[in-house]
Amino acid sequence: MPAALLQLAVVVPTFNERANVIELIARLHALLRDIDHEIIVVDDDSPDGTAEAVREVAREDRRVRVLQRVGRRGLSSACIEGMMTTAAPAIAVIDADLQHDETLLPQMLERLTSESLDLVIGTRNAGGGSMGSFAESRVRLSEAGRTLSRLVTHSELSDPMSGFFMLDRRFLEEVIGSLSGVGFKILLDLIASSARPVRFVEIPYHFRERLHGESKLDVVVGLEYLLLLIDKKIGDLIPPRFVVFGAVGGAGVVLHLAILWALLRLGGQRFLVAQAVAAFVVMTVNFFVNNALTWRDRRLRGRAVMLGLLQFYAACAIGAFVNVRVAAYAIQHGTPWYLAGLAGLLVGSVWNFAVTAATTWRVRRRRRARPAAAA
Ligand code: GDD
Ligand code: MN
Repeated sequence: MPAALLQLAVVVPTFNERANVIELIARLHALLRDIDHEIIVVDDDSPDGTAEAVREVAREDRRVRVLQRVGRRGLSSACIEGMMTTAAPAIAVIDADLQHDETLLPQMLERLTSESLDLVIGTRNAGGGSMGSFAESRVRLSEAGRTLSRLVTHSELSDPMSGFFMLDRRFLEEVIGSLSGVGFKILLDLIASSARPVRFVEIPYHFRERLHGESKLDVVVGLEYLLLLIDKKIGDLIPPRFVVFGAVGGAGVVLHLAILWALLRLGGQRFLVAQAVAAFVVMTVNFFVNNALTWRDRRLRGRAVMLGLLQFYAACAIGAFVNVRVAAYAIQHGTPWYLAGLAGLLVGSVWNFAVTAATTWRVRRRRRARPAAAA
């Protein structure tokens, strides 16, 4: 008898979901008894040992695989890379914490294939679905996001934030080259990356309570959402990270002027002293803000923060020098003062961005303890 063909892959992104994911795998196998399937857990090196716990299961069960990413974070990129590891013609993405209703999967697969759709989406907002006991503020935030999403998707999605969907792998191959991979909103990314209208249906479900552990969504996720929208709108022209870096720098200019004013007017300091203090404070603040926002996924922690801060000072000092040289050159060649000033600022910021991206916030691997050699 020929082996059955692989029909479905279920991609499960995890971060600290050790207790939940094992239960989910058991439920999926029971549910998908009659469907040839595999389960791909994409874990971002969770400190709670999620990856190893799943590998233990995988040793006895070849339908289960783990992709453990080291030194990386991000829900969207985890889903994308997980989807790219499978040969299955249909690929589902589902959270590990059992908040999504996995019992929908067979029905989703049925509709995806019988109606030749690109996508089947589990939705919490259409008839019959619900946000469950989601906090009021989360519901409102979600609605705001939905309104914004129309900007990039050009389609009426009732739950564009959904992290629960199934897609046809041909659709994935169509859009893979255009995906942004930032933040949480993988579904929106997929739809906004399509050059043609996407054939999708939505199936309502009730969003359940998280089984164990806590949500990884926080305020900064909102910022990442804006990043995704920016990237989809103008990402070909300007890298979205540079937009954030520039915004942080712009806020820094305002802070600089405020400090300068306070030191001169209230503190009676000499101009050069005030200017130097303001520059130093603003560089320091900018470093921490960039560390928390712009480079959140490569955030420096512990001892690395001090070294990073020193590198940041050095880069900014050279950036300021370049800034002044460019502006001086422009002025000498008859450029009006405001354009010369802007040119200096622009070149200086690009310098700061590029250099700190390659040094302070370069991709590094987490140092890990070597497992003790077997005796
Ligand atoms: N690999 C990886 N890397 N997985 C992650 C990461 C990450 O950086 N961050 C979160 N996850 C995993 C979690 O372990 C979980 O399985 C799933 O992604 C969803 O994360 P939650 O922290 O449970 O998110 P939530 O329940 O608050 O958010 C839900 O609603 C959002 C919309 O409001 C999810 O369904 C989201 O997908 C959805 O966008
Ligand atoms: Mn959740």
